[in-house]
Amino acid sequence: MARLVFLVVFITMLTILMSRGEAQDVTTWAKRVDTGKEVVTTLHFYFHDVVSGSNPTAVRIAQASQTNSSLTGFGLVNMVDDPLTIGPDPNSKLVGRARGIYGSAGQNEFGLLMVMSYGFLDGIYNGSSFSLLSINPALNPVREMSIVGGTGLFRLARGYAIAQTYSLDPTTGDAVVAYNVTLNTYI
Ligand SMILES: *[C@@H]1O[C@H](CO)[C@@H](O)[C@H](O)[C@H]1NC(C)=O
Ligand SMILES: *[C@@H]1O[C@H](CO)[C@@H](O)[C@H](O)[C@H]1NC(C)=O
Ligand SMILES: *[C@@H]1O[C@H](CO)[C@@H](O)[C@H](O)[C@H]1NC(C)=O
Repeated sequence: MARLVFLVVFITMLTILMSRGEAQDVTTWAKRVDTGKEVVTTLHFYFHDVVSGSNPTAVRIAQASQTNSSLTGFGLVNMVDDPLTIGPDPNSKLVGRARGIYGSAGQNEFGLLMVMSYGFLDGIYNGSSFSLLSINPALNPVREMSIVGGTGLFRLARGYAIAQTYSLDPTTGDAVVAYNVTLNTYI
């Protein structure tokens, strides 16, 4: 009997503790799972790259003499400050910004070298960032990129991003990209 009472009290306390842990993290675009050895965080957000119009989020900062005659735009470099939102609609909730540089790094095949910091603003992730360094064959519908570090909750992060083009305007080059990110950290 005493054992049963103990078990019931223990399970109740565990449930309360677990629900408290969840209550702290109200973000729907991110999920943290503590495996005991490491924390595995999965993120899902949309990246908005606007190259056209009067208020672009990605601007050309350099190019090579052969860039315009290259089929892959080889040598083009853009500086980027792209919003990251919860949904594909650019007016959906802002959860962070991807800032950095991408440049056309393929002579025969289109590939962007991404050197970017993805910084977050929402919930417990406010102030945390991860750094992505990878070739992005952006014309492929789905591509994988490596994540090499981070700050805040993403200190010592290692991981990868799966990016999938959600929409691409062929005339302007404006794109919306869905990201699924997996990060392993110790905290
Ligand atoms: C290349 O094309 C861009 C965009 O059309 C233009 O702004 C730039 O002046 C061109 N550069 C050269 C070297 O022709
Ligand atoms: C994120 O942190 C900054 C700086 O601490 C703060 O000003 C801002 O209000 C925070 N934003 C949210 C959504 O909590
Ligand atoms: C990204 O994650 C969502 C939600 O789990 C899933 O539906 C989608 O298929 C994933 N996309 C890719 C390209 O793996």
